[in-house]
Amino acid sequence: MAEKEKKGRCRLAIFASGTGSNAEALIHESFRQDSAYAVQLVIGNNSGARVMQLAPLYDIPVVHLSSRTHPDAADYARAMLAVLEEHRVDIIALAGYMKRVPPPVIEAYPGRILNVHPALLPKFGGQGMHGRRVHEAVLAAGEQKTGVTIHAVDEEYDSGAIIAQEEVAVQPDDTAESLAARVLDVEHRLYAAVVQQLAQELRGTALSETV
Ligand code: GRF
Repeated sequence: MAEKEKKGRCRLAIFASGTGSNAEALIHESFRQDSAYAVQLVIGNNSGARVMQLAPLYDIPVVHLSSRTHPDAADYARAMLAVLEEHRVDIIALAGYMKRVPPPVIEAYPGRILNVHPALLPKFGGQGMHGRRVHEAVLAAGEQKTGVTIHAVDEEYDSGAIIAQEEVAVQPDDTAESLAARVLDVEHRLYAAVVQQLAQELRGTALSETV
């Protein structure tokens, strides 16, 4: 998209660790003519992850930051803030991001870091509850419904304020895979809508120094 057409949009950074289907859904959403945000970069902690190859296909730069690149926690946080500042990022969307966001970054982006979780928090959340394990736990507990939660990010895993939830019914013959696939479809749609809404709210505030 030409620079001029992107004017007035919030600048989004996506943090991702794996496949990147949520990252890709957010990127596709940003291509809408009336999108309130544009994706400026992807930050990943796993240089071999699919998402790190995916973003450049859309001309979106990727930055690899991890305990390998920055063994010292304070250096790591400083490097992350420097990259976010360099790209004048307004909003951060965690999309299958497996690392904790450093406290200085959370402080710098109050209410402007979102995460997507593949269950109805506060159920089936917290450290270690990610990917397939979430859906296995939902099935093991005999739940009749699960779903998707979009929440603000604080310093704990999956504990920030809930912004949006959508239910997904569990079918009697569901496996972790079949459930994950239906939940993932909802994740893509709901996350894009919530990021769009936050970007719209921030647009016009002093915070959103826009593209
Ligand atoms: C998604 O279910 C996300 O909610 C969870 O991990 C999965 C990542 O999928 N945190 P992807 O990398 O976005 O495809």
